[in-house]
Amino acid sequence: APVSAPDLTTCGPADKPDGSTIDCCPPITTTIIDFKLPDRGPLRTRIAAQDVAKNPAYLAKYKKAIELMRALPDDDPRSLVQQAKVHCSYCDGGYPQVGYSDLEIQVHFCWLFFPFHRWYLYFYEKIMGELIGDPTFALPFWNWDAPAGMYIPEIFTDTSSSLYDQNRNTAHQPPKLLDLNYGGTDDDVDDATRIKENLTTMYQQMVSKATSHRLFYGEPYSAGDEPDPGAGNIETTPHNNIHLWVGDPTQTNGEDMGTFYSAGRDPLFYSHHSNVDRMWSIYKDKLGGTDIENTDWLDAEFLFYDEKKNLVRVKVRDSLDTKKLGYVYDEKVPIPWLKSKP
Ligand code: C2O
Repeated sequence: APVSAPDLTTCGPADKPDGSTIDCCPPITTTIIDFKLPDRGPLRTRIAAQDVAKNPAYLAKYKKAIELMRALPDDDPRSLVQQAKVHCSYCDGGYPQVGYSDLEIQVHFCWLFFPFHRWYLYFYEKIMGELIGDPTFALPFWNWDAPAGMYIPEIFTDTSSSLYDQNRNTAHQPPKLLDLNYGGTDDDVDDATRIKENLTTMYQQMVSKATSHRLFYGEPYSAGDEPDPGAGNIETTPHNNIHLWVGDPTQTNGEDMGTFYSAGRDPLFYSHHSNVDRMWSIYKDKLGGTDIENTDWLDAEFLFYDEKKNLVRVKVRDSLDTKKLGYVYDEKVPIPWLKSKP
């Protein structure tokens, strides 16, 4: 059977890597709405974060949205505080599985990774649009798979901006080039070599090593299963490496980006995941990848608060087509690794 949506009333403390716990439980609402695909309106186009600076009006909206999200009361499910807690409770053991109280829900290291984060961003994007009164607003993606985006995008490093987060590795500010295989230490490699390595990594993870659903999506995870059956390629590398690369190594757990409970406090998190999500779209649209047909995947459920503070139950099956969710990725952004066969 598929993993059911959590029962919010059973939410408990979440575990930090250092052994302490933190309360990440969301406000409780008893009414749950089942998600319905929206009517087709204009599509939201998610553009590359490095292109946002060229469009001052767009950047102003993005900053305004996050400023307003930060300003909401902490108990408003749409506040940045609560948005970060969503990740914390779904990823650090905040929820027991319904029907298996000794097992936690874990959306990483398994086939729920892509769909869970797609839904998470979907609601985050809708909340931003609601706060600025522009339902067409789209979340930019951190284009770390192409040389033009292999840095922390500048729009996130302006210390006076709502997009800034203090808890990042000071040694990894632009123009420091991103290492998609980062394991915790910086090595001395010239930029041209690093770019080549990064592109090769992308090709391997997306193409040459993505030869089955399990390798791309991660291992099956159904109701009653132990967490962590195994992550898919992209989740492991570069997704995890980028989290580690951004987080501040002087913080106890590599906060904010370096650990689950705090990653969502950094606005960069959502643009990082926008590109992870884009990789899923590229897998299907450009590489012939298909959906998993198993109903334990298709009918797996999550709960999120929407832009109107309604608690909504979603299923993986409704996440498979981004156009049905109202968004696409900017097609003009080059995908150089498609040709980076080593
Ligand atoms: Cu839920 Cu980037 O992890």
